[in-house]
Amino acid sequence: MIEVTNVCKSYDKDGFWRTEKQQVLHGINISVPAGASVGLVGESGSGKSTLGRLMLGLEQTDSGRILMQGQPVKQWRKKHAGGMSVVFQDYTTSVNPAYTIADIIREPLIACGRSKEADVTVAKLMDRVSLSPKLAKHLPHEVSGGQLQRACIARAIATSPAFVLFDEAISSLDVSVQARILKLLQELKGDMTYFFIAHDLQAVTYLCDNIYFLHKGRIVEQSASSDLAQVSSEYAKRLIGSAILFQSRWAG
Ligand SMILES: Nc1ncnc2c1ncn2[C@@H]1O[C@H](COP(=O)(O)OP(=O)(O)OP(=O)(O)O)[C@@H](O)[C@H]1O
Ligand SMILES: [Mg+2]
Repeated sequence: MIEVTNVCKSYDKDGFWRTEKQQVLHGINISVPAGASVGLVGESGSGKSTLGRLMLGLEQTDSGRILMQGQPVKQWRKKHAGGMSVVFQDYTTSVNPAYTIADIIREPLIACGRSKEADVTVAKLMDRVSLSPKLAKHLPHEVSGGQLQRACIARAIATSPAFVLFDEAISSLDVSVQARILKLLQELKGDMTYFFIAHDLQAVTYLCDNIYFLHKGRIVEQSASSDLAQVSSEYAKRLIGSAILFQSRWAG
């Protein structure tokens, strides 16, 4: 579905004397097959969100290409309104504080010209993400972090997109809410293709078939979730080692 080939990206960085280039991504290759869940793990600053923005066509690559169903992403998005969506880590700044929960979920439906069916769809979506109908008229500051994040997930799936990118979308929630949301995403999967960005492995191993390890802007390893014991790079081994320590968190 999405093919990332040899992608490089750099940003201007203000140096002491002159502006320098900082290369953030080096020759990235990633394949996300239709219907799959693919994970990208890497530490803070490794370039995960940058790659996510490129995959969504929000920024330009320096070189290499990103194709969605064989077409450049930007071109694909123009033809398929609501076909791609994203859930960000910082859900508090990704919603309009003056919007009610129902308005937030309705937003992409209206943007795609589907306002007629919006009320029914919003009610169904709230039910799917286990949000009580009573919350429909609440403002973001009147609901909990977990409830607001579930509203953002409902918004992201409102138009039944082909591709949904989650950039650290559940990291900031407490563990019990994370577990509930992971279960929900697993159930909702259906025809959607998921790409999960995370700094640790827990959520990603639970949800993804295939995991890429990003270290300092380079993919250092790729592994099926079921074969994690076989990884060879030092970086992947280290991440897996630290994940085992936390495994008990997910056992229940
Ligand atoms: N718009 C930008 N302009 C300049 N530099 C940027 C920009 N976006 C990201 N960078 C730099 O690129 C590098 C990678 O950033 P990125 O946000 O992609 O990392 P990340 O892996 O998502 O980190 P985190 O886990 O903390 O979210 C960082 O050094 C960052 O400062
Ligand atoms: Mg990031």
